[in-house]
Amino acid sequence: MTMIKVSKFDGDPGVVRDAFAQFPSGVAVLATHIRGEKHALVASSFMVGVSLAPCLVAVAVQKTSTTWELIKDAGAFGVSIFGKGQGDLTRKLASKDRAARFDKVAIEVGDSGAIFIEDAAMWLQCSTHVVSEAGDHWLIMLEVKKLGVGKNEALVWHGRKFRELAELPSVVGA
Ligand SMILES: Cc1cc2nc3c(=O)[nH]c(=O)nc-3n(C[C@H](O)[C@H](O)[C@H](O)COP(=O)(O)O)c2cc1C
Repeated sequence: MTMIKVSKFDGDPGVVRDAFAQFPSGVAVLATHIRGEKHALVASSFMVGVSLAPCLVAVAVQKTSTTWELIKDAGAFGVSIFGKGQGDLTRKLASKDRAARFDKVAIEVGDSGAIFIEDAAMWLQCSTHVVSEAGDHWLIMLEVKKLGVGKNEALVWHGRKFRELAELPSVVGA
């Protein structure tokens, strides 16, 4: 029998990060063109299905994010959900060198400056619905105005690594 050990933690963010790395997610990039510049904010905290009517999605952004400060007043955000084979692109768009993030990246610019990444699994065009404080993060609720589904399967982020989806063999009749 396996022993489940659930212990109190002393608030050490490293311990929390190690535990939360077990939670698989997709990875999104919020991208927009504002005041003459392109900006990208990569987030694995992105969440769909917060509400269907109105259609709301959410993302948690560190309060230290310099990019959020620059884009928070944008009229529209393009949200692209990274697809299979886009791990390096994800890291590039999250790199410290903000000026180099879009170097040789295939994008399309939609309405009101929303930026979409080519070959993604899904695209949303969103506007800010509400921003709430959530500890050391901002919890940003976005209203979805437009959406599109790509042909690429979503990339998976788990254990600080990019992974691919795999379908289990059918167990019908088992
Ligand atoms: C796979 C991955 C997931 C990330 N998820 C988040 C996230 O959910 N929230 C967040 O604030 N930053 C997240 N980051 C970090 C940001 O993308 C970015 O690097 C950070 O905000 C610092 O850049 P900035 O000062 O330009 O905002 C993630 C980075 C990577 C590579």
